[in-house]
Amino acid sequence: MTSTKTGRAYRVVIIKGDGIGPELVDATLEVMDAVQRKLGTFTLALDFHEGGAAAYRKYGYNLSKQSLEAIRSADACMKGPVGLPDVRLPDGTEAGSLGGVLRNGLDAYANVRPIRLLPGVEAPLKLKPGDIDYVVVRENTEGLYLSRGKGIGNEDAMADTLLMTRKGVERVCRYAFELARKRHGAPADGKQRVTCVDKSNVLASFAFFRRIFDEVGEHYPDIERQYLYADAATQALVMRPQRLDVLVMENFLGDILSDLGGATVGGIGLCPSGNIGDKYAYFEPIHGSAPDIAGQDKASPISQVLSMAMLLDHIGERRAGDMVWDAVSRALETGAMRINNMGQPEGSTKKAAKAIATAVA
Ligand code: IPM
Ligand code: MN
Repeated sequence: MTSTKTGRAYRVVIIKGDGIGPELVDATLEVMDAVQRKLGTFTLALDFHEGGAAAYRKYGYNLSKQSLEAIRSADACMKGPVGLPDVRLPDGTEAGSLGGVLRNGLDAYANVRPIRLLPGVEAPLKLKPGDIDYVVVRENTEGLYLSRGKGIGNEDAMADTLLMTRKGVERVCRYAFELARKRHGAPADGKQRVTCVDKSNVLASFAFFRRIFDEVGEHYPDIERQYLYADAATQALVMRPQRLDVLVMENFLGDILSDLGGATVGGIGLCPSGNIGDKYAYFEPIHGSAPDIAGQDKASPISQVLSMAMLLDHIGERRAGDMVWDAVSRALETGAMRINNMGQPEGSTKKAAKAIATAVA
């Protein structure tokens, strides 16, 4: 951040990504213009970089070293979803995925995924806004996905290894407890609570995770600790989400459970995320690039817009971040923006963006 006569200035790297990415990012930038105009206290200098499957097809790599450096020297990065199913690496995995290069490259170890039921959304559960308001903190640099690109085997067998390190588990658990301290507790009882989600009944790696969760938790006597096996957690997410505040879990489990959580609040098209480390952070929707509807102006921009809200909060522009969350809620509440039960906006992406931008102004 630099300060000028016209206010605080931040440099933000933007990666539009693949599929629906560019339309979602454009929608978000429209909302951002409205926020900057309204507040007049800060500006974002945008630095656009290519990244993802289309970039891989063009250059043979999905993100250049220069782009990674640009992210490291910026205040933060916002990226659209990436990946195209037909652009693959020789091992069969997607070439466009930036998960490895960014999450590990930036050591962004906490994947922070707020699951919040917004007003006016047709969600599958009979609950009201405010009943679902928790955050999945997904470990982002190790666990099963550390094996990304490193699976070993042959035509008859294939193995991926799940690795947990003390350092890795400690820091993500610490993040979860610190986050719980900043929140208002679970909707049901207002208790600040961190839930450890694991399969410690079956696998030693998860028993290790739970032990370290407890060691870290000892330093947070003010925060309640709760434990759920991952299979039971899927049920808790659906049947009693009101009791959830912050959940912390291994990478692969967090990938799956956050999509389940997303479904309970109207679909992953409404869900933002932050990939946050001690030095760098980037923000993106939790969903993929949906190439089947790309360019059709019908995807929900909410996940991307709220990712921007998280970015603003992260760089210290909390008021602007809250303004974006409020604008999304208000646009939904007044019916200016409607989301159908498929998680898509009525009208178009552009119309939804306009409704949010208008709610800001
Ligand atoms: C996510 C995505 C990514 C992941 C994919 C696209 C590599 O599903 O951010 O949840 O698996 O982490
Ligand atoms: Mn996922």
